[in-house]
Amino acid sequence: MLDFKTRKDRSEKIVMLTCYDYTSARIVQDSEIDVILVGDSAAMVMHGHGTTIPADVDMMCRHIESVGRGTSDKFIIGDMPFLSFRQSLADTLRAVDRVMKAGAHAIKLEGIEGNEETIAHLVRSGVPVMGHLGLTPQAVNQLGGYRVQGRDEDAARIIQRDALAVEQAGCFSVVLECVPEQLAKTITDSLQIPTIGIGAGMHTDGQVLVMQDLLGLSADFKPKFVRRYLDGRQLWLDAFNNFAEDVRHGRFPAADERYGQ
Ligand code: KIV
Repeated sequence: MLDFKTRKDRSEKIVMLTCYDYTSARIVQDSEIDVILVGDSAAMVMHGHGTTIPADVDMMCRHIESVGRGTSDKFIIGDMPFLSFRQSLADTLRAVDRVMKAGAHAIKLEGIEGNEETIAHLVRSGVPVMGHLGLTPQAVNQLGGYRVQGRDEDAARIIQRDALAVEQAGCFSVVLECVPEQLAKTITDSLQIPTIGIGAGMHTDGQVLVMQDLLGLSADFKPKFVRRYLDGRQLWLDAFNNFAEDVRHGRFPAADERYGQ
């Protein structure tokens, strides 16, 4: 298990990346990424939904199992999907049990209000829990869209208060999504547990990106906080078009790509 707290104490940044499938997981396994998040963003980048709300426990478990088969020693965090942890404690425990048995080493759940007891119970039961504050995509319909959170003083104070509550409930780490850099720094400095930022500036204890964003696979999604480390979409397009050209011009398959008698 990755020691998140020691990393923070030593000021060693934690690097987290989302991953949803076996083939990608095998590559992440051979990389220097510390932590894999099987995020409910799977609903969007793997299944084409407009929000994360359609993700459910079945969907998450399938992705977690696939990622688990592609990795040997990476720490895997499984996202709890929309409302899966807001029903009875018994229902929540059943959902978490499935996610953990699918291969997650920890779970992540969004928000804190009304989740304090659930988180404390899970932690007491041996489930490591990561929190998620700021822009919580499962609440997109309440937040009025995907926008930076905590810009005014009152909103910032609420996120700061929530971050302390996340720590007090027993979370081992918390994602801060789309909040001003100074607010993320204040929270990071005030917590014992590490913060992992996405769109939260450079002072968090770690960073997370969605794999498809990092690889530049989308034509139209380019928020300010994403750095594309690859023009993946163009590379894929070139490969697909080269294949099509080669087939049409009789260049594929070549002699050494065919079976003899
Ligand atoms: O689902 C997800 O990918 C996430 C990250 C954006 C933190 O929650």
